[in-house]
Order: sequence, then structure tokens, then C-alpha cells
Amino acid sequence: MKNVLVIDDDEKICWAFEQFLEEEGYAPSISNNAEEGLRRIASDKPDVVLLDVKLPGMSGLEALAQIKARHPWAIVIIITAYDDVETTVEAMRLQAFDFVPKPIDLDVVKSTLERAIRTQSVRSALPIKPTRKPPKGQRGPRLVGKSDQMREIYKLIGIMASNTMTVLIEGETGTGKDLVARAIHAGSERKDMPFVPVNCGAIPDDLLESELFGYEAGAFTGAKAEGKPGRFELANGGTLFLDEVANMTPALQVKLLRALQTQEIERLGSTRILKVDVRVIAATNQELGQMVQLGRFRDDLYYRFKRIALHLPPLRERREDVPMLITHFLQLAQDELRKPIRGISEEGMALLRRYEWPGNIRELENCIRSAATLARADVIMPDDLPIEVQTGSRPTANASPLADSLKTTLHRMIQEAIADEKKELYEEVVAMVDKVLIGLVLDEFSGNHSKTAELLGMSRTTLLKKIRQHIEEQPL
Ligand SMILES: Nc1ncnc2c1ncn2[C@@H]1O[C@H](COP(=O)(O)OP(=O)(O)OP(=O)(O)O)[C@@H](O)[C@H]1O
Ligand SMILES: [Mg+2]
Repeated sequence: MKNVLVIDDDEKICWAFEQFLEEEGYAPSISNNAEEGLRRIASDKPDVVLLDVKLPGMSGLEALAQIKARHPWAIVIIITAYDDVETTVEAMRLQAFDFVPKPIDLDVVKSTLERAIRTQSVRSALPIKPTRKPPKGQRGPRLVGKSDQMREIYKLIGIMASNTMTVLIEGETGTGKDLVARAIHAGSERKDMPFVPVNCGAIPDDLLESELFGYEAGAFTGAKAEGKPGRFELANGGTLFLDEVANMTPALQVKLLRALQTQEIERLGSTRILKVDVRVIAATNQELGQMVQLGRFRDDLYYRFKRIALHLPPLRERREDVPMLITHFLQLAQDELRKPIRGISEEGMALLRRYEWPGNIRELENCIRSAATLARADVIMPDDLPIEVQTGSRPTANASPLADSLKTTLHRMIQEAIADEKKELYEEVVAMVDKVLIGLVLDEFSGNHSKTAELLGMSRTTLLKKIRQHIEEQPL
């Protein structure tokens, strides 16, 4: 039978609780003041404590602080008529499990108690792991995972750290591209030289060029009088990390390619050539190959990047890493929140394993951090997990990398159409998709028209007409 301790100075309330708890099949015990209650917790180790706030002598909140300090395992439900902001905030800060307001509604007590008992059984069934502090240097962000895919990535990081080739890191959002880029730099001979990240997606097109290559005094209106070195210069001797490189305009792609080939740059507004020694690592969460096909990314630059490409697999393709990542992020969350977390309920763990993780490791990290924050005891229950993890809702089509890269491409086409005052954007977009799609399907069936027409759901005549039309425009 589950043991419930009531700490309240009101005899009538204690009596009512005792009746109710016995009827519900609990073993109640009563203390009329906090001091005695504390002694009972130590001797009886109740499963749940119901604690009044206004008590003679030591107040309920003081008692809560002491209970949590001496018996962190205790699950304490606060019973109070004082559910004002201050009391509520203070009680939750002191890690009360929940609040039951007075006048008491027994249905609320019942459901809160049931939740508390469930949490207590889950937490006491979890093995206590000795809190092992990871050795220094392993405390912050680091790569975790032992799946075959991740082992391959570690090997590639090692190989890439031993040379200065340009590297392209591909992967969906949150798969660890940033972390991998830093790992390559940190493992290389350049580790003591600067690692300079540039988020090409976050800097407006017209500023990106001067960010990368710098400018001389008076290069353009608004330029600083003393000029400014670009990130290429700042990364001299080290590594330049071009994040979201797909967002670069074609004009800038040409300049970047030249800089990569010659290791020479010119600041804007200057003809002086600066020799640099920069290792470039680029990252993208879009299918660059597709963008090349759509004519939105230069193929020469793409092939230069693509010589060494490191593809980070989405988390859903290496689910065996999930438990290890959870342990890692739980450790980080505990350090950050200064709150011990013993583990995750079995049911919660099953939900975490089953979920698709469209936001990959970043989403998992955020999920564990928020669950650890919300957990009312030192265990994460299913209720503490984000709603999409609880319900296992699938990612929307918008989250697909194809939709992402299409969006970027279309966004750019819209901007260009506005700038060029074009009027046939719809036609242009549809024609572009039509052409690429037909080309891909033709490739797939090695040029077989019948099979291509069948898959596309059009007649051979229509297909041939379209092919002719596209060839007239430009060869497929
Ligand atoms: N293998 C891993 N082990 C542990 N933590 C990881 C791992 N991969 C990524 N992370 C963590 O997940 C978060 C997201 O990683 P990161 O920023 O490198 O992703 P990204 O691929 O650059 O995402 P985006 O495309 O959105 O920029 C970071 O907090 C990072 O520390
Ligand atoms: Mg990133």
C-alpha cells in the first residue's frame, strides 16, 4: 500500500484526508506541524507528502526547502489557500510536485495524487547511476553516437583534419554540421589559428560580399572610413566556415570559386591582391545537386565542393544513437539547471525512440532540456515531453529538404522577377519544374519515352511535344 503523509495543522482537514485516503486504498499518516513531519519523512519514507503552507512554527515553504534538501526523492504536493503568485512561484522553484488549492476538491486531490504516485514508482524503479562527471574537455558540446554511420563520420573527420582540402558538409537541419566543421578544425594543424564562421543565409546578399572579402575606405556609401577586413582575411592561417552556402548569389559564387582556386582576394574598392591561406569548410541543409540542376548553384563551384562531401545522416536513420544522445543531453541539462535527473520513464523513452525527429539532434537536445526543466521530480515522465513527441505527429511536408530548397530557389526567383519587372513568373517556374522533372525521369529510364510518359501520367505525344519544346529552349 502506498504511504501518504499529510502535514497540516487543521484537525478537521486531517481527519477528512485520512478518511479519503483510506477509502482510496492508501496508507495515510498525519503530522500537525512541519518539524514532526520532517522526522516522519526520514523514518517512514512516504511515497507522497501533502503539505499545507500555513503551519505553526516552521512554514510549509520552509519545510519544503528542508525536505528537498534532505530527501530529494520526496514528492511533495502543496495544499494551500494561498495560491497567489509569490507562493506559487516560490513553491515551484523549490520543486513542489504540484498545487492543490483550498477549499479542497477531492477529485483534484485524487488525480494529482495518482500522478504523483505514478511518478514515484517510475523514479524508484530507475537504477541510481553514480553521477559521473565527464572528464574536462568533454563537458561542452561534443559529438556523441556509436552507430555505423557516425563511426564513418568520425573517420572522415580524422581524414579531413589531416589535410586542407575544401570540404562540403551536407545534412538536414540540426544534424551537427556546425559541430563537425569545428571538429575538423580542432583536429587539424590549424587548431590554434582562427575558426571563422559565416552564416551566408543570415547576411543580406548585398552585405555578404563585403563581409567575406572586406572593403577599403570609401568603397561604398556607408563604408567605414578605415575600411574593414573580410572574414577571409580574418581566417588567414585557419578555417573559414561558410554555413548555408546555398544562399550565395551566383555572382558571389564566382568570386568565391576564384578565391578558392587562387587563395587570393581583393577587398571591395581595392585592386591590391591579398594572398591568404584559408581552409574552407562549407555546409548546406539543401540538396546542392538539385540546386545545380535548377540552375541556381554554379556547377563548377559545386564540383569543387563535392570532391570531398561529408553527408550527415538524419537522426531517424540512426535511432540506435538516441539513448546515448539522451544521456549526454540529460547530463548537460542537469549541469545547466543544477537539478538532478535520475532518468526517463520507460513510456517516455519509448516515445522518444519512436519519434521522427524532423529537427534532428537539435530538436532532441531542446526536447530533453525542456523536459528536464519541466519535470516535477527527478524523473522525466511522458507528460513532460513536447506534445509532438507524445503524439508522435509526423513532420509536415514543409520540413522536407526538397521543400526547403524549392522555397529558397523560388524566393530568389521572385526577388529577381520583381527587380527585372518580369511578368511571367508563373509560367517560368512551371516550365522550370516541368523541364527538370522530365529530365530526371528520362534519366531514370535511360531515355525510354514510353516508360517516362507512363510514370508521369501523360501520353507519349505530350511528352515528345514537351521534350521538343524544352530542347528548343535549351538542351535538357
Ligand atoms: N553527434 C552529436 N552529438 C552530440 N551533440 C550533437 C551532435 N550533433 C549535433 N549536436 C548538437 O545538436 C545541436 C545542433 O547541431 P549543429 O548546430 O551542429 O547542427 P547543424 O547541422 O549546423 O544545424 P543547422 O542546419 O540548423 O545549422 C548543437 O547543439 C550540437 O551541439
Ligand atoms: Mg548550423
